[in-house]
Amino acid sequence: MRKKIAIIGTGYVGLTAGICLASLGHQVICVDKIKNKINNLKNGILPIYEPGLDQYLKKYKTNIEFTQNLPKAVSKSEIIFIAVGTPSKKDKSIDLSYIKQATKEIAKQLNAYKIIVNKSTVPVGTGNWTKKEIKKYYKGDFSVVSNPEFLREGSAIKDFLEPDRIVIGAEDKKAHEIMLDIYSKIHAPKIITDIKSAELIKYAANAFLATKISFINEIANICDRLDADVQKVAQGIGYDKRIGKYFLNAGIGYGGSCFPKDIDGLVSISNKHKYTFKLLNAVIEVNKNQQKIFIKKINSILKKIKGNTVCVWGLAFKANTDDVRKSPSIEIIKNLQRTGYKIRVYDPVATANAKKELLNKNITFCKNPYEAAKNADILALVTDWPEFSKMDMIKVKKIMHHPYLLDGRNQFEPEEMKKLGFYYEGIGRK
Ligand code: UDX
Repeated sequence: MRKKIAIIGTGYVGLTAGICLASLGHQVICVDKIKNKINNLKNGILPIYEPGLDQYLKKYKTNIEFTQNLPKAVSKSEIIFIAVGTPSKKDKSIDLSYIKQATKEIAKQLNAYKIIVNKSTVPVGTGNWTKKEIKKYYKGDFSVVSNPEFLREGSAIKDFLEPDRIVIGAEDKKAHEIMLDIYSKIHAPKIITDIKSAELIKYAANAFLATKISFINEIANICDRLDADVQKVAQGIGYDKRIGKYFLNAGIGYGGSCFPKDIDGLVSISNKHKYTFKLLNAVIEVNKNQQKIFIKKINSILKKIKGNTVCVWGLAFKANTDDVRKSPSIEIIKNLQRTGYKIRVYDPVATANAKKELLNKNITFCKNPYEAAKNADILALVTDWPEFSKMDMIKVKKIMHHPYLLDGRNQFEPEEMKKLGFYYEGIGRK
């Protein structure tokens, strides 16, 4: 049945959830404090790059409105999703100030039974806190639900509408039923749990995936020493259904707005409860080390050939996004800038965001990958954009000063590149 839904926060999660819920036929109001964002959204302009999302908004615009007016959105809705940011604090614990502010504003506005759903990734126990907080302002009946979101940037619509599962942490029957009704058109296993378990599922999922990445990165480092091929090893273990073939791509470590923050978050939650999560501490260390290994490789090649110009392909933390938050590319470039190298860089969509993060020192932002490769002593591929693996590498080699190719995402076949005359190094490739 068509529901009236308010979504607080129009970041990747809030906006995708809002537009996708509108596509399922619900009447959605998206709320954000930033005037410019809301005005642009009213005109169909998205604040983020997410493939297909603008067309979806256009298609379902009659089911969705955008406003800065939180009280009005809350009073007109039956279900209120909180999808505001939960950044890391300096001490790596989770900053809940946006959650607290949104909860208070929602609570003050309640006038009838409503469901308050947490979609943001929040520490275990936040749902119970939300209940207590709302009770301070509202004495009537309401429900609190945890409904974590597992979408990935770059494939957000598909991940939302065709998820592997939907997790609903709800502790009363009324809320269960309404939540199941919201997602009735989505065919996926729906897991009903208590609120705390739902909150922990999100951290556990991200922590497990990050562990898979650090594991394969360590296997890659051993492959480098043994002259074995990590891609073959990943394939060989990935066919085992108990292991699974996904998230076994070795590279320069995970980045983005979720994994680094959530893994730190789970370590911090564990510490708070006097438990040392030894495995995750190692996952974090391996991840940091992966960037260091890559930088070391660049340094040693440049030292050997007495070069100083590095071409960097990719700025985003992964392909199909303009997001540079905790992007390995940004960290690598900052390090290379400190050493004093000249950087020539290209990214299909993330340049504008990267410019806000990087010092305008010894760096040229180029219009295409060829321009970036011009006169470079080494080409470092750091983001797995598909267009990079389709480049005319004969042309690339011709315009480079030295033919050194360091493939941080294993996008090329080592033998092919060597045949073209490149000195090629991947991550854990033979
Ligand atoms: C992640 C989770 O996948 C998603 O479920 C959650 O809701 C949000 O966090 P996202 O941050 O969009 O999604 O990116 P994801 O595709 O998971 O990649 C995260 C990082 O891991 C990227 O830096 C990516 O390049 C890296 N990665 C991923 C690898 O290095 N190897 C892999 O095999 C997979």
